[in-house]
Amino acid sequence: MEIEVVQSDVTEIEVDVLVVNLFEGVTSPGGATGAVDSALGGVISELISDGEISGSASEFTLIHTPNSAFPSFKPARVLVAGLGSSDSFDTDVSRRVSAAVMRKLRTAGTKQVATIVHGVGIGGVDTQQGAQAVVEGSLLGSYRFLKYRTTDKKRKPDIENLVVVEGDSSKLDAINAGVSIGIAYSEAEILARNLVNEPANKLSPADLAAVAEKVAGANGLEITVLEQADVEKLGMGAYVGVSQGGPRPLKFIHMTYEGDSANPENNLWLIGKGITFDSGGISLKPGAGMGKMKGDMGGGASVVGAMQAISQLKPKLNVHAVCAATDNMPGGSAQRPGDVVTAMNGMTIEVDNTDAEGRLTLADAIGYALSKDAVRIVDIATLTGAARVALGDGVSPVFGNDDGLMDAVLEASENVGEPMWRLPLDAVTKRQNSSKIADLKNTGGRGGGSTTAAHFIADFAGDTPWVHIDVAATSMLDNTRGWMPAGATGVPTRSLIELAMRLGG
Ligand code: BES
Ligand code: MN
Ligand code: ZN
Repeated sequence: MEIEVVQSDVTEIEVDVLVVNLFEGVTSPGGATGAVDSALGGVISELISDGEISGSASEFTLIHTPNSAFPSFKPARVLVAGLGSSDSFDTDVSRRVSAAVMRKLRTAGTKQVATIVHGVGIGGVDTQQGAQAVVEGSLLGSYRFLKYRTTDKKRKPDIENLVVVEGDSSKLDAINAGVSIGIAYSEAEILARNLVNEPANKLSPADLAAVAEKVAGANGLEITVLEQADVEKLGMGAYVGVSQGGPRPLKFIHMTYEGDSANPENNLWLIGKGITFDSGGISLKPGAGMGKMKGDMGGGASVVGAMQAISQLKPKLNVHAVCAATDNMPGGSAQRPGDVVTAMNGMTIEVDNTDAEGRLTLADAIGYALSKDAVRIVDIATLTGAARVALGDGVSPVFGNDDGLMDAVLEASENVGEPMWRLPLDAVTKRQNSSKIADLKNTGGRGGGSTTAAHFIADFAGDTPWVHIDVAATSMLDNTRGWMPAGATGVPTRSLIELAMRLGG
């Protein structure tokens, strides 16, 4: 979909559908909707007074405006999108409505769409952020993963053009900025989605590394990919232990964006869990739903995606992305429950359950980051089924050891509409990780599964400011919700970009 910003009166724009909006309770619309209403002889106000349009959220009214009847009105149709109450309007509502609008218009066979930026008038949204939200909702909401669907003849084609139309020239700079940021954020999140949706037979650790190399090459990023022998030399016994049960070689991916090369200590390390398939290993998962474990590299996908946008938007900060990619398989040379492995930092771990593999790989990825003088670490992982039990699939639990970094992460996530909620790292659950035979064990028993996993990682982060985002429930959805289609959501890619932009702003 091509997106452009055009300065024009809304009545003059030649498209299949012009999208305007209406807040609940408004009886005589102003702004662009008002201009359309006047040009159409008051038809919108009449529909409102007749009770046909109420402006409630996700109410859509399509009005045909043929040239024969309205010779000076250029759009062929007008879609009035309800935005709900102006009190509860925010960019999140805008993303949701824009997503639904684009899917609806695609189903109707629309090719050329023009839209105004929703809610910058009585909605009270900042113009740039409003434009960003419309673009994100449109791009993310119309996403489909179709590459393996070859026989679907009835499928509606994609919308070709989206024109963001604005009459007021003083708003154009802000709209242009919001649109480009929205495109960069969305393309990054879509890259992450594509990687998560890709089946495991099509995306090995080597394939993931190849994508990261391609992103790095196209955007001027440095990249290093370590092989098994390299990480063995570094002492990453926890990571290697996970990998040894399957034939596909591990790839340890490290991408670097230098936005403040004079100050290497001004850095942020984004560490994404990169299990390209999690069978559970010898602690084999049940068969039902195991296919979803193709998405167990969702954290890694989000950091690769974020690096693409970060390199385009250029915050003044050095950002490192790390993904210790591997399968977790139950082959004859797989590690066994009860094995003891030694992580890069020298700590020993009793592998109580080979299905708690994510924390093992993260332990060594964090060890690596610390060996390179990381000052802020954010790890992103599809880590625990317990995350869904705790908070459902609308909110990602987060844990951390530093209030400043935590607040930055929470504010970033709030601003992009990817909800997160901090859970405590209390002393009681911490004890659940203690092992009789090693420094730690990789499981924490029945209660607080997400918390014990976070405690495990915390022990490797030590005193360095660190936040852990558990996206096990939020990185894939069973059903479409707002701007997130069923399947991979790409969450929390935009939060990571936003975080880098704020830290380097
Ligand atoms: N990748 C899974 C977590 C997961 C579960 C992600 C469901 C997405 C959806 C992780 O490696 C895992 O298996 N965790 C175990 C930990 C347990 C063995 C301590 C879990 O959550 O059951
Ligand atoms: Mn697992
Ligand atoms: Zn896993």
